[in-house]
Amino acid sequence: MTIGRTVYLNGKFCPVEDAAISPFDRGFLFAHAAYEVTAVYDGRFIDLEGHLSRLRRTLEGISISNPYSDEAWAEIHTDLIDKNGVEEGLVYLEVTGGAYGMRDFAGPETFTPTVFLYADTRPLIGEAARDGIKAITLGDTRWKRRDMKTVQLLSQALAYRTAREAGADTAFMVEDGLVTEAASANAWIVDAEGRLITRELSHSILPGITRAGVLSLLDGTGIELVERAFTPEEAAGAVEAFTTSAGAMVAPVITLDGKPVGSGKPGPVTRRIQRLYYEAMGADVAAVAPWALG
Ligand code: PDD
Repeated sequence: MTIGRTVYLNGKFCPVEDAAISPFDRGFLFAHAAYEVTAVYDGRFIDLEGHLSRLRRTLEGISISNPYSDEAWAEIHTDLIDKNGVEEGLVYLEVTGGAYGMRDFAGPETFTPTVFLYADTRPLIGEAARDGIKAITLGDTRWKRRDMKTVQLLSQALAYRTAREAGADTAFMVEDGLVTEAASANAWIVDAEGRLITRELSHSILPGITRAGVLSLLDGTGIELVERAFTPEEAAGAVEAFTTSAGAMVAPVITLDGKPVGSGKPGPVTRRIQRLYYEAMGADVAAVAPWALG
């Protein structure tokens, strides 16, 4: 394959060496991006309409408005292969949520997308088509390996946007009738018997460092811990709920789907865990969090 020297970035054609995007781009930070790859054969695109129609659907699904009409997209594609002299190969296009100098999951109401295209000259009807390829079978893990802290964060970014639309700050994510985690934190509840419940470690959740920190502080407190998955109904009926993460540390969850959790105020177990955690990190709790002293 030969990457064409001229690429398209945000409204302009430029040499590939000059094409630069911000490290704060949502494609880089959250995988918040759509892409298409369209084949070029004999200087013509193979079903560009099909690709542009799928792009429209993907962009709509990920809250990015389509920056161009189909006609404008077709013109950019044509200009790109002309400038690079591509007769046979591929055009890659990517549209991301863009950059705005910070990392926040939900992002602005309206994105100013980053648009990037390059052309690649390569034979499409070649050895693989002639001789065949070798395959193995593998479990489909897209994206089920949440235990790895990767930037596959598109669903979380969309979850934050949906939460914001609903007047909330985060979401308890549910899979197969069980809460996995909060949108970017581990989820915890306290049941009517005062038991602290958080999901056990598995591929389904990130092994939170804050979660582990909290667990290490429970010895000798008399708080009973149960590591198991809980349902959204249990969370709704819990007497307390909170999340843990490096960003928000121990955050009391006071409503779920608009209804109060327990009293609708941060509860005593949550306050105790906040206190323990803040003390362990060396905070002067009386000064910075007197409300955690109970
Ligand atoms: N997120 N689960 C998810 C999906 C997370 O994104 C995070 C952290 C956690 C908690 O992990 P820890 O306690 O190690 O921070 C659980 C970070 C804070 C973020 O993306 O901003």
